[in-house]
Amino acid sequence: MTGAISYDPGYGSTGSCKSEITFIDGEKGILRYRGYPLEQLAEGVSFEEVMYLMIWGKLPNQAELDGFNAKLAEHAELPEGIVAVLDNLPKNAHPMTVMQTLVATLGDYYEPADEETDIIRLLAKSKALAAYSYRKQTGKEYLKPSKGASFAGDFAHMTFGTSDEYKVSDVLEASLDSLFILHADHEQNCSTSTARMIGSAQASLYASISGAIGALSGPLHGGANQKVIEMLENIRAEGRSLEDHIELVKDKSSDVKLMGFGHRVYKNFDPRARILKKSADELFADLGVEDPALDLAKELEKVALEDEYFVKRRLYPNVDFYSGTIYRALGIPTNMFTVMFVLGRLPGWIAQWKEMRDDADQRIHRPRQIYIGENERNVTPISER
Ligand code: SDX
Repeated sequence: MTGAISYDPGYGSTGSCKSEITFIDGEKGILRYRGYPLEQLAEGVSFEEVMYLMIWGKLPNQAELDGFNAKLAEHAELPEGIVAVLDNLPKNAHPMTVMQTLVATLGDYYEPADEETDIIRLLAKSKALAAYSYRKQTGKEYLKPSKGASFAGDFAHMTFGTSDEYKVSDVLEASLDSLFILHADHEQNCSTSTARMIGSAQASLYASISGAIGALSGPLHGGANQKVIEMLENIRAEGRSLEDHIELVKDKSSDVKLMGFGHRVYKNFDPRARILKKSADELFADLGVEDPALDLAKELEKVALEDEYFVKRRLYPNVDFYSGTIYRALGIPTNMFTVMFVLGRLPGWIAQWKEMRDDADQRIHRPRQIYIGENERNVTPISER
């Protein structure tokens, strides 16, 4: 099994977590999905093909892809009842909370189904769930999925309405397709480990993915892309120099992090950030967009990478550093950035969950601990406490 990695993710279960899905080399900045280099997949393959690759382990031929797309189209619509749930969630509910809630309940609108149907159903309906979470907060009507549209194109249509309303249509569709691919999986990150953890108890796919969405919403994980833009906007609004911001970050008592920087695995560069930085330049040139936030991001990267604090700690821009500037150029609202991450990561979560569930030796994940509490002691009556 080439590329199989064994390491104990600390689950304390039956030994290490082995996987055939994603290979990362943090020192060399290598990322491969099922052995294919990310750079090749991001250029010449559709997100639908990557979904298929992640979950069923091979790039589909045309017949397989056509069949898969037909199933996605068949399952694209949302059940009426879930729209009623959506309408009754608080108007100011964060789209990530909406996604987590709706995914958790999605299965309850259908008769129990086989694993493949649940997988197709969740993939197919994810784009409408995401689009509707945006339409809800903007008070706009919900649009039905479009038969024959690509995943990215259909999401964009349901989110932004007719193509006249798009800020950009073809470029938007192509950019989203590529962004989804870049986010499709990343080995045993926090949210993927959560999906595995929940699924190891034989909980449903919906419960497992809903938990993963909750983990991804954290600002140290997927929530970072929104925080990067907020950080850049704050620096500009407060008129702070980049050097001053860097000093604030270096002051441990400030507890301020340089959002979009650092990674538990990548210690030289995040290959996704490199691709996104190039895409951002090309996209902004295409759109003729001048966004001070992108210029500031590039300057911040330059200043940080010349600073001993970051060099010594091997902190480099990660996938979230540039994705926010691209989403913004495409007209995606800031509080939807992490929902975009959900749409991209969904096939990876599902693939990892399926791989764990298909393992005949799979057992419940049960991490152990190092107890550092009190030694045994006796209870005293409250009158003596
Ligand atoms: C994602 O795991 C994955 O694969 C995740 C992900 C995926 O695709 O699923 O790649 C997606 O989550 C990307 C990360 C997005 N998060 C951010 O951009 C938030 C900012 N980054 C940091 O919070 C941090 O870098 C983490 C959370 C990403 C990693 O945390 P670690 O592994 O605990 O950081 P570390 O051990 O590398 O830190 C080493 C030192 C520490 O300082 P010292 O105690 O040595 O003095 O670097 C410091 C850290 O405090 N540090 C930072 C920093 N990141 C680490 N200091 C300032 N700003 C930062 N961003």
